[in-house]
Amino acid sequence: MLFRQLFDTTSGTYTYLLASRRGGEALIIDPVLEKVDRYIQLVKELDLKLVKAVDTHLHADHITGLGALRDRTQCVTVMGEASKVDVVSMRLAEGDKLTIEGMALDVLYTPGHTDDSYCFTMADRVFTGDTLLIRGTGRTDFQHGDARAQFDSIFNKLLRLPDETLVFPAHDYKGETVSTIGEERAFNPRLQVKSVDEYVALMASLDLPNPKMMDVAVPANMRVGLAQEEIARRGWAIGAEEAVGLIGRADVALIDLREPRERAKHGVIPGSLHAPYADLAANVRSGGMLNELARATGKRMVFYCAFGERSAMAVQAAQDAGLASARHIQGGLDAWTKAGGKVER
Ligand SMILES: [Fe+2]
Repeated sequence: MLFRQLFDTTSGTYTYLLASRRGGEALIIDPVLEKVDRYIQLVKELDLKLVKAVDTHLHADHITGLGALRDRTQCVTVMGEASKVDVVSMRLAEGDKLTIEGMALDVLYTPGHTDDSYCFTMADRVFTGDTLLIRGTGRTDFQHGDARAQFDSIFNKLLRLPDETLVFPAHDYKGETVSTIGEERAFNPRLQVKSVDEYVALMASLDLPNPKMMDVAVPANMRVGLAQEEIARRGWAIGAEEAVGLIGRADVALIDLREPRERAKHGVIPGSLHAPYADLAANVRSGGMLNELARATGKRMVFYCAFGERSAMAVQAAQDAGLASARHIQGGLDAWTKAGGKVER
């Protein structure tokens, strides 16, 4: 496995880059906007392809690098389903898997620091975001924080992981880089409480100043979504209501870009084809499956995904490859379902 822990000194944020092999797909957790050049350089140096950028929660102390990484690498942006950000490409829930080639992380929903906090676990480690820090815990006094929920997330989820599990948090302000679940259970001063009420009282007594960046970072991080308006202005978007009328049309091929897990969980548009976003470049280039399909049948390709972000990038890629009739469903399956479109499971 390739593993890099990167640090932003301004915000004290740790960012993690993961891949199963050199030359393979990579995943980045909690990227910081100001460091995006560095991440892209490192990805290149390690001969990786960045395919997913994930935030553990909506950050208040720095602007996320999710949007910039998507714009520069066409990677898929990922957050938890409790997140209120405008658009991310993929939303995960507890029990889902966050996958790239050769790797699958388990998703835990761990509200408390915020109501959209998630942790990601692998065999030997857990990425705890701001839920569990080294000898600390994330504050619970804003962004719908809830000390009671955090107690439950920490004691009933994270501390149930094996003692030797490595703990990689989203922040540290003292230069600590890694801990373990066993160490935190024994030595984290916030966890030496006898009851949830004692924990709630402890968290209420902290009286912390708001993060310096909060007024800038929170609104900015709410709007990481790809501007699908630009794709619409070029006439490449189909509204969900109009798209519902395309079902069964012989001159249209509806193409689902989502992953098999998303299809199984949320259903598919009846009669649609499956061509995962990860294979998009190969599929739309000359000789590729979708390119051949469009040219051989003259069908208009209409891409869709979960929220319209991957499909917007797919339309751009298809247009760049000369497939002028390519379109996408604005707002994805989410908008389709809200417009009364049928879904098959
Ligand atoms: Fe945070």
